[in-house]
Amino acid sequence: MAEPSRDTFLISNGIPETVKTSREIVQSVRETTRRHNNWFKESIPLIASENFTSPAVREVMNSDLHNRYAEGLPGKRYYQGNIYIDEIETLCEEVAREVFRCRFADVRPVSGTVANLAVLMAFAKPGDKMTAVGLSDGGHLSHAKIGAAGLRGVRTHHYPFDKKTMNIDPDGARRLIREVKPKIALFGQSVYLFPTPLEELRDAFEEVGCVVWYDAAHVLGLIAGKRFQDPLREGADVVSGSTHKTLPGPQHGMMISDLRRESFETSLRRGVFPGVTSNHHLHSVAALAITLAETMEFGEAYADQTIRNASALAQALHERGLDVLCEALGFTESHTLVIDVEEHHGGAKVAKALEDANIIVNKNLLPWDSDPVRPSGIRVGAQEITRLGMKEKDMTDVAEFMARVVVKGEAPSSVIEDVKTFKRDFTKAHYCFFEGQEAYDYPSFVDDM
Ligand SMILES: Cc1ncc(COP(=O)(O)O)c(C=O)c1O
Repeated sequence: MAEPSRDTFLISNGIPETVKTSREIVQSVRETTRRHNNWFKESIPLIASENFTSPAVREVMNSDLHNRYAEGLPGKRYYQGNIYIDEIETLCEEVAREVFRCRFADVRPVSGTVANLAVLMAFAKPGDKMTAVGLSDGGHLSHAKIGAAGLRGVRTHHYPFDKKTMNIDPDGARRLIREVKPKIALFGQSVYLFPTPLEELRDAFEEVGCVVWYDAAHVLGLIAGKRFQDPLREGADVVSGSTHKTLPGPQHGMMISDLRRESFETSLRRGVFPGVTSNHHLHSVAALAITLAETMEFGEAYADQTIRNASALAQALHERGLDVLCEALGFTESHTLVIDVEEHHGGAKVAKALEDANIIVNKNLLPWDSDPVRPSGIRVGAQEITRLGMKEKDMTDVAEFMARVVVKGEAPSSVIEDVKTFKRDFTKAHYCFFEGQEAYDYPSFVDDM
């Protein structure tokens, strides 16, 4: 067996063929990353929690900001070197307050989950009670005992869920809140088809005096584009979210509030730092500032088209024999649609077959699934294909490719070339400045090795 020398690296299983020099490893990772980029360029991306960033966002993501540290708040840092960072972060918060029409924004959480942990740090102590949507009904891991809520020691109680409307049952939720008297009433889902009936629950919130928290991770871009509900105006005290799903920004998080109680500001700030962050990824803050500014300019048109596309795709899939949920309600009012594919061998098989045809979706639990590791549905999002310039008429093509694989049982290998050809017309960024630039091309700073 070859002895690893100073510039070689032995891959774990010790087989001689797998010995690679560090130079080869670097080149291999660069090449594999390029293959990933090219794959997505030739694919139809339909994961409801993803998006791609605009050219201006990509530029600042690649800047020196990425290398720096800034703990605390602008003007009150624990490090030197933050002169320009303070300017950017202050501007980012101002733009966030403007876009979401609110008094307070914190743009430091490094992801949606971290924003959620910060809210939990701010408003709950171990042993406190919280009401939330259950996991199989579309709630998120971070709302659950096995995730952030459990980590904070918070005890969760689930709202009754109406499987026909794919939404919480308002009467049952009101009853639960009155009965449990939670410290926090949390709303928001990872499978978000229709707005949460927040206003209908206002009496119960006021009676119990709970903090009302809305996790907008999935729908932040639709809220910013004024095409979904407006949680701060409908009774939410704090809204948290990821900034990279329908809001097409960097992988990051944020929170906003109207500070119904003045004490909220200190609690939320402390929840973020030192609660759950140290440094807060400064290139992402710059990228978020640009995303929010682009949202001011293009956000309404983008949110509008996203929802139109989701609805058109749902209709086209339904017409081709797929069981898209909530037909009676028009399938969806968001970027997402959900399809029951149990009769086509379940979510995992269908998602894999579609992937083999370069159509990227994810398997998803449906509220009636009894086995959590065998989801019977798939979840589909229209936000990314909208930013690639697709309109309602293109949804017919997307639906036809999906139906060929799932309903007609065509081999993915016979569909993939048609998908690639179709996708050639949709590789450029829309709803942003520098519109028309390639969406999946990243600059290379160095030559091949
Ligand atoms: C409702 C909800 N909250 C929070 C998150 C976590 O977001 P992140 O991946 O940014 O941590 C997700 C992720 O999908 C989500 O769906």
